[in-house]
Amino acid sequence: MPVLFPVEEFAKLKKKMRVYEWGQKILLTKLDIMYEDFKNFHSNNPIENIRSRIKAPESVAQKLHSLSFEITADNAQKHIKDIAGVRIICTFAKDIYFLAGIIREMPHTKVLGEKDYVSNPKPSGYRGYHILLEIPVYYSGNIESIPVEIQLRTAAMDFWATLEHKAKYKYHEHVPALLSDELVFCAEKIAELDSRMFKIHETILKLNEDK
Ligand code: GTP
Ligand code: MG
Repeated sequence: MPVLFPVEEFAKLKKKMRVYEWGQKILLTKLDIMYEDFKNFHSNNPIENIRSRIKAPESVAQKLHSLSFEITADNAQKHIKDIAGVRIICTFAKDIYFLAGIIREMPHTKVLGEKDYVSNPKPSGYRGYHILLEIPVYYSGNIESIPVEIQLRTAAMDFWATLEHKAKYKYHEHVPALLSDELVFCAEKIAELDSRMFKIHETILKLNEDK
């Protein structure tokens, strides 16, 4: 059975969602400037692409329900920190830490938390680096701080996460052992590939320097 917001709460949430969109837009502009700077004025661009999404109200309701909170707009704001999400796909795993360092130093934003699932993968095999940022949004004469979750992944990590997410969805979170074992195996292979690809990249750089 899908869980839904009561009509009044839904109207409240809809209004709040606009502010999350504005917070996300501000962050995306900052990241876009970072991307263009790397692309045009540096020898190396660690960003492959940037995607974003606002969590659908049904997913917000579902998450509140699974956390045993009442389905209200206030609870969504209080307990769901990934209503606004941004995903940065990096070239190499090392770039993830490099970019995390830059994001940490970004002015007019505050880091609320970080989770390193690159060095400490989840039991599922999931890898990625998460930074929860607080973005100040100025409107109606007030400043409201909006949380935005940034996920940093390599293209290979992202490929894995998308497929694993589909498997979880298909099996309603209860993926058969044979499949989840295979996913863990693939996650490890992917990490190994990421690292071997990086070594090739380093060798090419070195050869170019020696020329
Ligand atoms: P959520 O309630 O899922 O947001 O978990 P959390 O608040 O403990 O945060 P966590 O850092 O564990 O994960 C947040 C997000 O990372 C998820 O919404 C997914 O996008 C991604 N993620 C985390 N674990 C997995 C996983 O095992 N598989 C996949 N495909 N994605 C994951
Ligand atoms: Mg989430």
